[in-house]
Amino acid sequence: MAVFSVSIGVLGRVVLGLGLLGAAEQDGHADELRPKGTNAYQMVTGDDSEDDRHRWDKLFSTNNYVYGKEPARFLRENIHFFSQGGRALDLAMGEGRNAVFLAERGFNVDGVDISEVAIRKAKRLAKEKGVLVTPILADLNTYVIRSNTYDVILNFDFLQPALIPQIKKGLKKGGLVAYENYTVEQLMNSYGYPVRRDLLLKKGELKALFKDFQILVYREYNDGKEAKATLIARKTR
Ligand SMILES: C[S@@+](CC[C@H](N)C(=O)[O-])C[C@H]1O[C@@H](n2cnc3c(N)ncnc32)[C@H](O)[C@@H]1O
Repeated sequence: MAVFSVSIGVLGRVVLGLGLLGAAEQDGHADELRPKGTNAYQMVTGDDSEDDRHRWDKLFSTNNYVYGKEPARFLRENIHFFSQGGRALDLAMGEGRNAVFLAERGFNVDGVDISEVAIRKAKRLAKEKGVLVTPILADLNTYVIRSNTYDVILNFDFLQPALIPQIKKGLKKGGLVAYENYTVEQLMNSYGYPVRRDLLLKKGELKALFKDFQILVYREYNDGKEAKATLIARKTR
């Protein structure tokens, strides 16, 4: 899946699968999301969080679930690590696919996102599945994660290195982080070329960011469509 990205202020960065544009396209929002340059796959940048919030609101303003209702494959395939239950936080929760999945497995889930539309859809998905998720409408450029509070923190397709120390503080001892994002290898995939290198994880970067944690799963892959780094790691002290 090729990508373009949405800058989320000075610190954060998000890469979207271009496949997702299909849904927006059908819905007539694609032109608004794409820059008006010659290259439709140029990076989309926002000047500030407010700008980005509008972009995400637009992307999610469709009846379809842009990212689907099923959890990320990486989370589903590794759910056995998360059998302890407890309190979970989903950073940049989007439309709630991962938050709801954990809530269905007994977790008490908080989900943070800057998009009001995403939050509304996450609530709708939770209701549909008969579970509760606590939505938090907030900008992760300024949001402060409560210390020593969570058993699990999820971070999917949202890269904000400045949040890493907060994720570490927010987890209880023994708590787990699950993290997935695109890597620089994505630049080699078709249509991936316009993405800025500095918006992607470098080789080994994610592992290095959690070197003080016990790494349970770490993988970098490029299947020709998606190049990602995935990690599950435990806070041991
Ligand atoms: C690529 S989507 C991923 C959504 C979700 N994690 C998933 O995997 O389905 C990125 C999400 O980040 C959110 N986001 C972007 N900038 C943000 C910010 N500054 N604060 C909080 N959320 C933000 C968007 O609204 C969007 O829901």
